[in-house]
Amino acid sequence: MTRWALRTATTSYQVRLAPGGAWAELAYWGPAVEETLAPGPLEYAGPTPYSTAADAAACEYAPYGVRHFAQLDLIAERDVRGTVWRHSGDDLLDKDGTTELRLIFTDPSQRLTATLCYRVSRAHDVVERWAEITNDGDTPLRLERARSAAFTMPTPGGARLHHLHGRWAQEFQTGEVELRHGRFTLENRLGVTGLAHSPWLAVQPLDEPDGPTWSTALAWSGSWAIDADTDAAEGVTRVSLGRLPVEAAVELAPGETFTSPPACGLYSPDGLAGAARAWHAYQRGLRRDVTPPVVYNSWFATEFEVRADEQLELARKAAAIGVETFVVDDGWFVGRDDDRGGLGDWEPDPAKFPGGFDRFIAQVRELGLGFGLWVEPEGVSPRSRLYAEHPDWVYQVPGRPMTTIRNQYVLDLGRADAAAWAHATLDGLLSRYDISYLKWDMNRPMTERGAGPDLDGRHVANYYGILEALRRDHPGVVVEGCAAGGGRADLATAARCDVLWPSDNTGPLDRLAVQHGFLQAFAPHLMSSWVTDDPGFFATAPRSRAFRYVTAMAGVLGIGADISAWDQERLDEAARWIALYRSIRDVVQLGEVHRHGDPRGPFYAVEYARGDTVVLLSWRTGDARGSATHVSRPPRIRPHAVDPAARYRRRDDDSRHSGAALAAVGLAPLPDDTTDASVVILDRL
Ligand code: DGJ
Repeated sequence: MTRWALRTATTSYQVRLAPGGAWAELAYWGPAVEETLAPGPLEYAGPTPYSTAADAAACEYAPYGVRHFAQLDLIAERDVRGTVWRHSGDDLLDKDGTTELRLIFTDPSQRLTATLCYRVSRAHDVVERWAEITNDGDTPLRLERARSAAFTMPTPGGARLHHLHGRWAQEFQTGEVELRHGRFTLENRLGVTGLAHSPWLAVQPLDEPDGPTWSTALAWSGSWAIDADTDAAEGVTRVSLGRLPVEAAVELAPGETFTSPPACGLYSPDGLAGAARAWHAYQRGLRRDVTPPVVYNSWFATEFEVRADEQLELARKAAAIGVETFVVDDGWFVGRDDDRGGLGDWEPDPAKFPGGFDRFIAQVRELGLGFGLWVEPEGVSPRSRLYAEHPDWVYQVPGRPMTTIRNQYVLDLGRADAAAWAHATLDGLLSRYDISYLKWDMNRPMTERGAGPDLDGRHVANYYGILEALRRDHPGVVVEGCAAGGGRADLATAARCDVLWPSDNTGPLDRLAVQHGFLQAFAPHLMSSWVTDDPGFFATAPRSRAFRYVTAMAGVLGIGADISAWDQERLDEAARWIALYRSIRDVVQLGEVHRHGDPRGPFYAVEYARGDTVVLLSWRTGDARGSATHVSRPPRIRPHAVDPAARYRRRDDDSRHSGAALAAVGLAPLPDDTTDASVVILDRL
């Protein structure tokens, strides 16, 4: 039987053909083992009564027509609805530690060719999969569903599914579902990745929380769906991931090929924590070799009331405390005095920068700071000049009322002319002004998209295309991805931006919970976080300033408070924290992550290990309401990444520790009730 084995860093993913080449099926997915020794946890004994073999098999990609009753990945229709294909070719390319496999299936009667694509690397454990569907006929082919891939996992007795859900200011909340029979579906119809659900899922056998874990994610920034089908009696869970054609089925012209976005999957023997580390390692491979700077962002300090003299005052103080880049957020452009105007007219407002924008940037630069700008290229204000000149460039259904959300429309970025304008506008800003940082925001999901071919696909393709062009032509510009907070956190945006803004909520306890969930699916080098004023908008329970600094240091530290009102003592304090962060950020951003405890209480810590250094960030979170708990002994944390055979020096007090003792009994990073956050750095001696 034809079988292909794909080796990742530590796992093996093995695919074979069903008899007669009627479909491809998963043979094995787990720790790397010799091919002949791989057990077949997904073996099936053939169709059960009332079913077919294809319905029972661990099909890699199931078209309606091959499968009849069970979960489907492809529904194609020309004259008839359904596909009956056969394996018609394959290609395996092994080069420089990367393996690519292409399995080709053809249906001569429907005149459709599908290529199931796989890519793995020895540098990480992620299996990237996508599908290419070609119309071989001379009439249009309709794709009602064309998912990226499906992954089958052994889950005897049922599955425990882990997902990330939320809403504005409460992104990346961790959710758990016990599923024995039936389907769990996540759907996002917003046209952007979404605040409500992340395109990410982890699957474990029901009763083994720390054991084998499979995790999947979709690299797509539009509408999407993930279905997990579990059958406890069969002992399998199958997860199908792909785009969700909300407006209309995708129609392929003769000769045209639909390429799905990549769906990614990984196996870890070490529970959710191991899966998180495997995602982090993969995302480190996607990253450019740039260190996101410590930014000062003026949004919370000034909102729309941007004035050059006040911004410069903020910039002066920011430079003095060790900030590296000054970012002017929303409100810098003409017509933007509140959220009802301006979007689309990306010109600096001369009333806000009376000495000229160039001069303002030069003054910021003279302070030794990089300069950053906020944009929302897809946002269009009804009273903007852009809308007056190009009313047809925004999504709309002729003759129907147009919904506004945050008082704005959405640019139809799928149009070539609108995309060319958006690219030229951003490229123009980056070429014309001395800009080293760009925050791309998107505050408005799609409504009334009207009619047209694959609107979601075209919009997202041009969003990627513009990001890629900007990165190519302005490699020195760091790009931050944002959509009303964490609404565009996905693997595709992560591959094209340097850092992501996970949430507008910077209230201490809420933020910690958001970051905990974010780190489940995304690496710390992507996690932007600011220290803001207390109590602030979201702070429901007071926490120390240290708590806010340590929280923001858990990824890419920034400052978002109104520092113009800070006295010298607060500025000095900020300078100390920023200096400390800069001394450990390579470990924090690029290290191996272990999370300890629970962000909802009573204590929580994140450990980062890189080279000879282990950094422990710890928080005393109190109980779920944020109240303190009073116990006589401080919490102890056992660092997971210490080498038991080594000795360590603790940087803050110069104490010496045995690795074995640290691993066995740990240390107490929060010595007393009054300390609610700390940073402990251990260097191997
Ligand atoms: C939403 C973002 O998440 C905020 O950080 C800020 O940039 C505002 N938009 C500005 O309108």
